[in-house]
Amino acid sequence: MRLVSIMLALYLWANYIAMLRVGVLGVGHLGKFHLNNWKEIEGVVIAGFYDPNDQIAQEVVDKYQIKRFTSVDALLDACDAVDIIAPTIAHFELCKPAITKGKHVFVEKPLANSMDEARELVKLAKEANIKFQVGHVERFNPAFLAIKNMKLEPMFIEVHRLAQFNPRGTDVSVILDLMIHDIDIILNLVKSNVKNISANGVAVMSDTPDIANVRIEFDNSCVANLTSSRISMKKMRKMRLFQKDAYIGIDFLEKKTEIIKLSSPEDKNVFTFDIETNHGKKTIAISNPAVAADGNAIKLELEAFKTSIINNTETAVTVMDGFRAMDVAHQILEKIASAIVH
Ligand SMILES: NC(=O)c1ccc[n+]([C@@H]2O[C@H](COP(=O)([O-])OP(=O)(O)OC[C@H]3O[C@@H](n4cnc5c(N)ncnc54)[C@H](O)[C@@H]3O)[C@@H](O)[C@H]2O)c1
Repeated sequence: MRLVSIMLALYLWANYIAMLRVGVLGVGHLGKFHLNNWKEIEGVVIAGFYDPNDQIAQEVVDKYQIKRFTSVDALLDACDAVDIIAPTIAHFELCKPAITKGKHVFVEKPLANSMDEARELVKLAKEANIKFQVGHVERFNPAFLAIKNMKLEPMFIEVHRLAQFNPRGTDVSVILDLMIHDIDIILNLVKSNVKNISANGVAVMSDTPDIANVRIEFDNSCVANLTSSRISMKKMRKMRLFQKDAYIGIDFLEKKTEIIKLSSPEDKNVFTFDIETNHGKKTIAISNPAVAADGNAIKLELEAFKTSIINNTETAVTVMDGFRAMDVAHQILEKIASAIVH
């Protein structure tokens, strides 16, 4: 009987040490979504969490039955990887000791609170033998994934990301809070350097811009026109891509994708119609690529992080991706600041 107990204990221990131990830093609004998803991901065990807010921490202990650590250091010693979902202002002070202790890091967007912090994180992450992923979750939105096999070479991009006001997140401007999602997607799509940025924004409800309109021009002549607002009456998260022979509409909120393009022989089972142009008759094809109905972007990004650790491959959204998005976001903020007439 004793031998069976020992064997069982050894079996459970062997299973435990084969698991990826994740420590969660910050278990507020988004942190709880991450906890729910980590619990569903195979091969992962939540080693515990750290959150300085006693009330939030107690709720999490009661609901999730996971260990609360009262020091970041102690949690770092108990895990292989960290998931940082604390306010942006704390990202750097949490990422730095994690990297220094050789832990893999997933950190929510934006990467850091300042360009100096972002620069140092890039350096530290590159020197350390760890995986580092930034939470640009829209890359995993099923509506965006639906067109991942399509050749995307946009020359004009129009984006609207509108949200209702919520004081959460207003520690940073709407550029770093919302627009950074679209900046990351656009930098990922347009394989060209940024040539020029024009921007304007207004701080209506908080101390930093709550609404902004931005034009980004690229060396290859592509132009992206972005509007972000966190003071709107209704929500919208739409990106429209125009490229030679095609229009692609991505609705990140409604999880729908539409492609309207000149018909080609490989178009099967899609709606087509003819139009007369100066160059003769053209056939237009309209299609809605299948969007995974059960696609959970947060789960997919966390699974991708785990897979990059297990397979020792590059993360899906690297520290450099996070840095580039922040760099453009900060150029936008400088343009907005210089446009304000005092
Ligand atoms: N990817 C997305 O779409 C998305 C959406 C919302 C928020 N976010 C990002 O997630 C982060 C958290 O946002 P939220 O909405 O969950 O905020 P929140 O205020 O609801 O939660 C933040 C939690 O972090 C805790 N915290 C504060 N300082 C800490 C520290 N030093 N160490 C550990 N925990 C600390 C707070 O007590 C709180 O429980 C922000 O960086 C935000 O930009 C990303």
